[in-house]
Amino acid sequence: MSTVILDGKATAKAIRRELKKEISTLDYTPTLAVILVGKDPASTVYVSSKEKACKWAGLKSINHHLDASTDSETLRNLIIKLNNDPTVDGILLQLPLPSHMDEESLLMEIIPEKDVDGFHPVNQGKVLLGATKGLIPCTPYGIIELLQRYDINPSGKEAVIVGRSSIVGRPIAALLISLNATVTVCHTKTKDLKFHVSRADLLVIAAGRRNIVDSSWIKKDAVVIDVGIHRLDDGTLTGDIEFDQAHALASAITPVPGGIGPMTIAMLLKNTVLAAKLRRSN
Ligand code: GUN
Repeated sequence: MSTVILDGKATAKAIRRELKKEISTLDYTPTLAVILVGKDPASTVYVSSKEKACKWAGLKSINHHLDASTDSETLRNLIIKLNNDPTVDGILLQLPLPSHMDEESLLMEIIPEKDVDGFHPVNQGKVLLGATKGLIPCTPYGIIELLQRYDINPSGKEAVIVGRSSIVGRPIAALLISLNATVTVCHTKTKDLKFHVSRADLLVIAAGRRNIVDSSWIKKDAVVIDVGIHRLDDGTLTGDIEFDQAHALASAITPVPGGIGPMTIAMLLKNTVLAAKLRRSN
């Protein structure tokens, strides 16, 4: 059986096209406020990709690029102002923040209705309670959407997740439980990672470090989702696992780049449109 490449780039493009069509029928322009503090190179690239994607789809993005030395109160006041601004539908606070800022408390300042990243405890809590719709964290939402568009149903599958972050590992675990997978979450203190990985029908690797999972452990015909992205010394981008051997064993696999990364941005746009619609329906 040949391995299916789960093409996040093409799928994200299709989603952006659908959104563009939908936005063109609205009598308002959904608006995303993007806050970037400092000049972290990776964040600068992410933010400009998000802004570009908004523009292409017909969303308005308002950019607030603050100096790295900005104090927390200034940022908090900006978030409060955007919360109260009726022309703003979504607020994105790009992470990481400079070390003098408390990320958790600042993220919590964004009201759940405008939390298009899905990071607020209210939105995370809904996912934990079984929601598969609403303002779902964008990366896990992108994984689920990609699986659905390739007709891969998690129901009954042994799903193994490597990584327990609040942005990826925990919410994807909750979503996969809601979709009737049997879920195991592995992390840095897991005793026998190979044992768990080698019995996964659906493997989600979001370790944030390369080669924690050895590709040779992958079960034959598993579906492999690699959330990692790393730039090697020669400039090439790669995921958390070594691709070629994983590809040889898997029935389907995401490439890096062109897998989950573009899906995350597409779901951010989808969440912004949803937030705009929900706010107007209340
Ligand atoms: N930094 C890295 N990924 C993300 C993301 O998905 N959202 C935000 N806000 N910051 C990030």
